[in-house]
Amino acid sequence: MRMCPFDFQRFIDGWVRNVAISACHLSEDFDPQILPSEPRFGDFQCNGIFAHAKRSGIVPRQLGEQVLKALQASDGAHLWDMSLAGAGFINFKIAIPAIETWLETYATEEDFSKAAGDLPGKTVVVDYSCPNTAKQMHVGHLRSMVIGDAIANLLEFFGARVIRDNHLGDWGTQFGILLMQLREEKLQMENLSPDEALECLENVYRRGTQATQTSESAMERARAELVALQNGDPERVATWKWINTVSYASFQEIYDLARVKFDHVLGESFYRDKVGRVCDELSKCGIAEESEGALVVFHRDHPRFCQQPFIIRKRDGASNYATTDLATVLHRREEWHCDEIVYVTDGRQRDHFEQLFLTAKRWFSAKGYALPVLKHVWFGTVCGEDGKAIKTRSGEPIRLKTLFSEAIQRADEIIASKGTDLTADERMRISRTVGVGAIKYGDLLQNRTSDYAFSWDKMLSLEGNTAPYLQYAVARIYAIFRRAGIDPDAPGKSHKIHLLEPQEIALGRKLLLYPCVLHQALADLRPHFICTYIYELAGIFSTFYNSTKVLDEDQQTLLSRLSLCARTLTILRSGLNILGIGVLEKM
Ligand code: ARG
Repeated sequence: MRMCPFDFQRFIDGWVRNVAISACHLSEDFDPQILPSEPRFGDFQCNGIFAHAKRSGIVPRQLGEQVLKALQASDGAHLWDMSLAGAGFINFKIAIPAIETWLETYATEEDFSKAAGDLPGKTVVVDYSCPNTAKQMHVGHLRSMVIGDAIANLLEFFGARVIRDNHLGDWGTQFGILLMQLREEKLQMENLSPDEALECLENVYRRGTQATQTSESAMERARAELVALQNGDPERVATWKWINTVSYASFQEIYDLARVKFDHVLGESFYRDKVGRVCDELSKCGIAEESEGALVVFHRDHPRFCQQPFIIRKRDGASNYATTDLATVLHRREEWHCDEIVYVTDGRQRDHFEQLFLTAKRWFSAKGYALPVLKHVWFGTVCGEDGKAIKTRSGEPIRLKTLFSEAIQRADEIIASKGTDLTADERMRISRTVGVGAIKYGDLLQNRTSDYAFSWDKMLSLEGNTAPYLQYAVARIYAIFRRAGIDPDAPGKSHKIHLLEPQEIALGRKLLLYPCVLHQALADLRPHFICTYIYELAGIFSTFYNSTKVLDEDQQTLLSRLSLCARTLTILRSGLNILGIGVLEKM
């Protein structure tokens, strides 16, 4: 079998390291730092020689020459052209036969995921979405759902066993106020739809909050309601359950639209009988201490958390968000045997997670429990076009449902304006896929740690890096195959691919970078790398398609070019799949 690396970047990295250490006697800590380079220089560049030479007091250019010579003399050198550049950098340009072999070897999504088995046997919990019940999901809940889902898909692609857990906020102090106010108003809500009921509950909550702020006795009654609920009073528990049921029914509509699924929906309430163990063990291990009547954890070596406590039991004896999260780590480890937990929330929770991770680490190590790797994947805020948080006219955050229906509506208007012969059903399906895709993609495209301004026009545009543009690129490739009368998934590995024209070569080069991009996205759990790549790929494909005749009379050329179309389709589809963006065969 001809050797064909899946990820050239990784492969070159390992190869250069080996050769440099064994043939040129560089020390074990040599890191080649292979990175994709600007196309005019080649495909990859080795940047690590320079740094290594500087550190060892050698002239970088000389070391570069020495390493290059050794590389040229070793196995594998026929896969790429190499040249020395600048002060000791080495450029790699993959040889055309190697690109052709790559394209012939990695043809389907299945080939990719088989080759990308980086995480087999690894169990990763992804904790995302997690809205609080008794309120509708609003724009502030968009990013966790969208980014979390993409990350879960990415981990799954790499072979991990992913457990998607929606850790609902269903056990907060909001229930004391809600129960009190509901009792006082004696509302009949049984006949309302989940959305109407939630709307009504939001108003009840607002009035309840007002009451507790102005009246000490209302505050007392709310507290008493919460205690009654926590003590399992059947009537309160029934109302609480009903509130959670209608809340979830309304969330579910959004998850269905966004095509987001969970394996578990264990809200905070699930852990209510598990928090005792947390406080017990942390106290007995000497990690938690009493402070002003509360049970808290300080981290003496931390510049801030040596003073800012992590409160795990409040003065009134109640557990809180921190206690639940500690119990959750233990449950996920003991019951699901997870190796890693990824939390996808807003950047404002960074302190919480840092304290959680520090506390869990000390607790697990004191008890001899195996600690999963804990990662906080945080994100910035979605702003309006004016740079401020997006709100409705009355100052409320925009509901997700409103956002999605408006996107679908706008997508539908665009489709109608193009004049179509679609059936009503088809048109509806397309508007949904495009509208929902536009919102999700508009979010994923942003580096997650930045804030971004939400713009309807930008994300729904058929030009630029948008879901509609990419969905259109995909549909266009399907159309090529319809015209050729061939199934796009049929020209698998059997056809020879010949890269002759410069546009074909450029496309081939871009295609083989896909695995590098996936690894880059995985390393830092940042899906936007995939967006940038597939957008560029679509552009390069377009240049190829506009300048070369795909449906050539010559059978060999036709099949080779169609195979290039098929590879582009596979990668665009795979990328969009990982991002959770729907694709269409016709648009
Ligand atoms: N319910 C929380 C909120 O709305 C998010 C929960 C995130 N997950 C967790 N395990 N803490 O802010």
